[in-house]
Formats: sequence, structure tokens, C-alpha cells
Amino acid sequence: MAKGSKDSGFNALSKHRKRLSETSMREMFAQDSGRFERFSASGAGILLDYSKNRIDADALAALFDLARAAGVEERRTQMCEGEHINITEDRAVMHMALRYQGDRPVTVDGGDVMPDVRGVLKAIENYTNAVRSGDIRGQGGEQFTDVVNIGIGGSDLGPAMVTLALEPYTRADLRAHYVSNVDGAHIHDVLKRLDPKKTLFIVASKTFTTDETMTNANSARKWIADALGEEAVPNHFAAVSTNIEACARFGIREDRIFGFWDWVGGRYSVWSAIGLPIALAVGYDNFAKFLAGGDAMDRHFLETPLEDNLPVIMALLGVWYRNVWGFSTHAVLPYDQRLSRFAAYLQQQDMESNGKSVTLAGKPVEWSTGPIVWGEPGTNGQHAFYQLIHQGTDVIPCDFLIAARPHESLPPHHDKLVANVLAQSEALMLGKSKDEVVAELKAQGLDKDSIKALAPHKVFPGNRPSNTLFYPQLTPETLGALIALYEHKVFVQGVIWNVNSYDQWGVELGKQLAKALLPKVQGEASGEGHDSSTQGLLAYYLANKA
Ligand code: F6P
Repeated sequence: MAKGSKDSGFNALSKHRKRLSETSMREMFAQDSGRFERFSASGAGILLDYSKNRIDADALAALFDLARAAGVEERRTQMCEGEHINITEDRAVMHMALRYQGDRPVTVDGGDVMPDVRGVLKAIENYTNAVRSGDIRGQGGEQFTDVVNIGIGGSDLGPAMVTLALEPYTRADLRAHYVSNVDGAHIHDVLKRLDPKKTLFIVASKTFTTDETMTNANSARKWIADALGEEAVPNHFAAVSTNIEACARFGIREDRIFGFWDWVGGRYSVWSAIGLPIALAVGYDNFAKFLAGGDAMDRHFLETPLEDNLPVIMALLGVWYRNVWGFSTHAVLPYDQRLSRFAAYLQQQDMESNGKSVTLAGKPVEWSTGPIVWGEPGTNGQHAFYQLIHQGTDVIPCDFLIAARPHESLPPHHDKLVANVLAQSEALMLGKSKDEVVAELKAQGLDKDSIKALAPHKVFPGNRPSNTLFYPQLTPETLGALIALYEHKVFVQGVIWNVNSYDQWGVELGKQLAKALLPKVQGEASGEGHDSSTQGLLAYYLANKA
């Protein structure tokens, strides 16, 4: 915790855990018909039902005290005011400015950033309108039918996830593809169905130095140059980066380079020009609505008391389970096929942000920090890993996400989807007792011995926590609000854990070692000096690569 000591924070919570360990959610629901009203809240068009958690009013009050003692409100103000809360990189954290809809100046390092932000948005609007209308075409005059975004991490996961999520807003004659992996199979398999004459590439990299992205970009450049000639390159590439000079050196036309700023973290950059492929796929107007949805959640986060604040509530429940109950993973389970990459996106947002083990002061943390985030859409997950969530030895808090209205008129699909999501949170909470199992088996006519043998396998412990996020429909606005909700949740948890949520030094060592290993893998240098495992694997590769 940022302020006060850990003992006064997490230890004060353990007495609430003790009390709640002696009861169950099933009992608490039975005793309190107002539990849903008491433990649900709305913001930016999203309903959060958090009543199916191991909480009561006293435990929650203690959690809000913890947030206040940790300085969540003060740090939130510091973030908004452009203070360099990313201390190890000496940067402000201002992704909220990218989606800000108001008319007040937003100051970073002494200057209002909004004119630049809106200037880039205007450039994106003009460019995407021109590509979508056919005013901007490929070298031979053909209209673009395919856009390939080349980027990785935050320069890939956000736009890739959002494009999938907003499929109802896309056009059949303009498809977006995403290439991220340095594995040549990725770009190969995407390009094999595309026509260079009709393909537009976006090279998306905050730094414009990321090895995977530059390797893929060079392969794409060669693909265009081989098919259409070197002179076609400027007509088939655009770039998004904070490193404008490097984009120009790559051969990108100045008017097709879209900038952003070092106060936007990679995993918070979907709102910046990194969203260019989204705007191309769904149209600028829908991209603007997506930004407005993010801003609506910002207003909720900034203006709502902690007790009714969706990101704060979700963050505190996460802390409660991580630090007081010792649960180490968190599942995100959208009952929304179009959110099939949402958990992958949140893995970067959450695990790159709060996967830290030193405090802001550089001291080892004495408490657990970010959980393992994972998930897949329901109902598919129900037929795969839900077994463990229901009856495994670990308790896994879950977030269920569901829209009230689908985009397609295909009864009875959506009603079935909703029945399933409601059933899952109910089953996790209620469980099934031994008495219930025995009664059920008796009713099925099983004999005493069979019932005795089978009953333990059919008992569900229940009391397994979940949140449900309900929204009217998965629109651009709703998606923007959902992403911002999780961003702020991560922020609040980072403050409570007293870590820097905005750097990612943990990814550097692997990059350094890969660079050093490349000449050895290419057989140009000896592998001597590495550990015996690395040397053995290297030798295997060199003997088998041809
Ligand atoms: O994985 C580390 C990281 O720096 C991410 O934070 C970032 O989103 C990704 O690499 C890509 O970086 P860039 O946009 O600079 O290519």
C-alpha cells in the first residue's frame, strides 16, 4: 500500500475474511432479498452485479477504507494532472486525453495536448474516409480491399480485439488483418490469400524499433516491392508511431505517418493512432463513438464516489481475493463470441501493468500483486475448463460479460446464451450439497450403494465468486467503456499494491538475450559460455535446421 502499512491494510481485512468463512453466499442470499440491489452498480451504460462475491457491507467498507488509505483518490488526481506517475520512465500517464470529449485544456509538461490529439484524430478521419471511399488507392489504381496491421503487444492486441468485437460495423469489401508474431508462418499465412495490388499495410510501433514488427514490416515491404516495384511502397504503407523519423526512413510518406506521444503506454494506446486499423475497418464515426465510450467511463471513474465506482469496486474485489483469500488467478469470461480476444487483450493490460514485485521505492513487495488473467468466451469454455472452476481445488473469481441485445436476429440463440451465463454464476454461487445430490440420485432410482459411490463426485462446493457485467448491446460506445473500466481497475490495484503499473522492464531481458543469441542461432558465432541447456538446444537446432 502506498500509505500506511500493509499490516493496517490487509491484516485489518482478515477479520472480515474469518467472519465470511463461516457463512456462504447461498446463506447470505437466503437471508437478504435485497442483496442484488445492495451490491450492484451502474456506470457508462454498464451494469455491474457483484452480489455473488464473498462480501458483506462491513467487508466492503473496510475495502473502501483500504483504497482511501492507499491514496487512490490522490493518485487519480495526479494522473489527471499529468504528473509523471510512471516514475521509472519519467513519464505522465495520459491515455484518458486521447478520448477526452470536453473542451477544457489537458496539460502535460506545461502544454495543452488536446490540439495535437485532435489534429491526429482529424488526420485519421481524413485518411480513413479517403481509403474507404477509394480516393486513396493502390499503386495501380485499384481500391484497397485488405488492410494488414503489423505490430505486436499494445500495437496489435487492442486493434485486433476491437476489430473482432465490432464486426457488425465492418464492411465486407474492406477486411482488416493482424500480423504480430515474428514466426514467418504468421505473415505468410495472412498474405497468401491477399492481392498486393489491393493491400494496404500499417506498420504500428510506438518505438518503431521492435524486432518482431520491423522484421514483419521488411517482409511486407519486399512482398509489395517484388510484386509491384519499389516505387509502389509509399502507396501501400502507412505508419503509426512516436518515432516519426524512423517511419520516414522506412519509406513512409509524411502524410501517412500518424503520431502519438510518450505519455501513452503501449498497452493503453488503442485510443491513439494505433486505432487506425479500427477506423479503417468500422469507419471513423464508429471509432469516434468508441473513444466517447471510453470517456464516459472516465467521467464515471473520476466523478463517482468510490462506493459506487465500477472500476474501484472491481479493483477492490480483486485485491480482496488476491491478498486476503490468496486466490491467484482471475477469469474473464465474455458470453460474447466477438469478445473472443478480450481476455488476451486484458492479459497485456493487467499482467504487463501489475506483474511487478518491487514497490515504487524499489523495495520488494511484501504482498501478492497482479493475478494471472485468463479466459475464453462462454459457452465454449463451459465444455472445456469450467469443470475446474466448479469442482477444482482452486477458487477462481470470474467476470462474466453479456449483452442484453445481440446484433443478429437469430432466435433462440441469444436467449440460450443468456440462460447459460446466468446459470453459470448461479451454479458457482449455490453449488450443490450432498443432500441435494442424494435426493436427486434417489429420484433417479439408484440403489443405496450406487448413491454412496457416486454422490461425492456430484457435489459442487459452491460459494465461488463472480461478477456479471451486463450491457445493452456490444456497440462501439459500450466496448470503449468496457476497456476503460478494466484500465481503471488496473490503475486502482496498482496504487494499492504500490507498484508502477506503467513500465514493463520484465520484457527486456528476453529481448536482450534473443539479440545475443541470434548470431549463434545463425551459426555465425559459437554458443560457448551459455549454460549447458542452452548449448544443448542450440546444438540440436544447428544439427537439424537444414
Ligand atoms: O512487450 C513490450 C512492449 O514494449 C509493449 O509494452 C508494447 O505494447 C510492445 O512491446 C510493442 O512495442 P512497440 O509499439 O514499440 O513496437
